[in-house]
Amino acid sequence: MTGDVVNPEGRKIPRHIAIILDGNGRWAARHGLPRAMGHKKGCETLEQIVADAARLGVEYLTVYGFSTENWKRSQEEVGALMNLFRFYMVKLIKVANEHNVRARMIGERSRFAKDIQDGIDRLERETAANTGMTFVFAVNYGSRDEIVRAVRKYTLEALKEGKTVEEIEALTEQEFAGYLDTAGMPDPDLVIRTSGELRLSNYLLWQCAYAEYYITPVLWPDFNKDELLKAIDNYNSRERRFGGRLKTTDNYDRSGKSGT
Ligand code: IPE
Ligand code: IPE
Ligand code: MG
Repeated sequence: MTGDVVNPEGRKIPRHIAIILDGNGRWAARHGLPRAMGHKKGCETLEQIVADAARLGVEYLTVYGFSTENWKRSQEEVGALMNLFRFYMVKLIKVANEHNVRARMIGERSRFAKDIQDGIDRLERETAANTGMTFVFAVNYGSRDEIVRAVRKYTLEALKEGKTVEEIEALTEQEFAGYLDTAGMPDPDLVIRTSGELRLSNYLLWQCAYAEYYITPVLWPDFNKDELLKAIDNYNSRERRFGGRLKTTDNYDRSGKSGT
């Protein structure tokens, strides 16, 4: 079931937290600043949250930084985000190494300029030996794109290996998950979305089948450790059933009397 760890303050810490960071643009507008300044402030929040989550004992933190749909934004905004990534991937190496964090990227990286791809490779390579939290950065990530890429990969392999119909029919969910960008990672336990939107926006659709959701109106640049703890405390109040029975009713029969 869940792999939650109880930290010294008695909190059950979700093993895998996934964040949809949202609200950078609204934060900038509220402060009378250009949107790019909201993204810059959002990067500072991210550094802080990576450090806080690692200290709390989170094993995997997956953050949605740029979606496959975000290319639709103005050239000016996409350009500002690319410049930020350019410098930020390198900055993250320092942050990750300071906190024994291993970084990994999910998404389709070939659409990025060569130097950004090199930055991602460097971030992964130079933090690979760290043994603490895994920080997963979802950039040019879209769940549907990821699933289609996985199907392609599986099919091409099957063709190459000359798999039989029987072998293809025997494909399991677990095996298929191994073709996704998140191969080898546990599914998210808790999904946090900032700035109040009640949607997944094409984020980890397969992986979040049984995740718990927490939506806060706080805009991402204002998100901090206290807000993270609020989300974790809220998670602590949930009863996860994974399609099974409600634990608190296990001792009651249908008449409502206590069972054996
Ligand atoms: C999240 O902030 C960052 C990205 C999607 C890149 P937004 O830029 O979506 O901020 P809002 O939603 O416009 O406030
Ligand atoms: C989701 O935020 C994508 C990221 C956080 C990277 P968006 O701001 O792009 O989502 P929508 O457009 O509100 O659904
Ligand atoms: Mg948004």
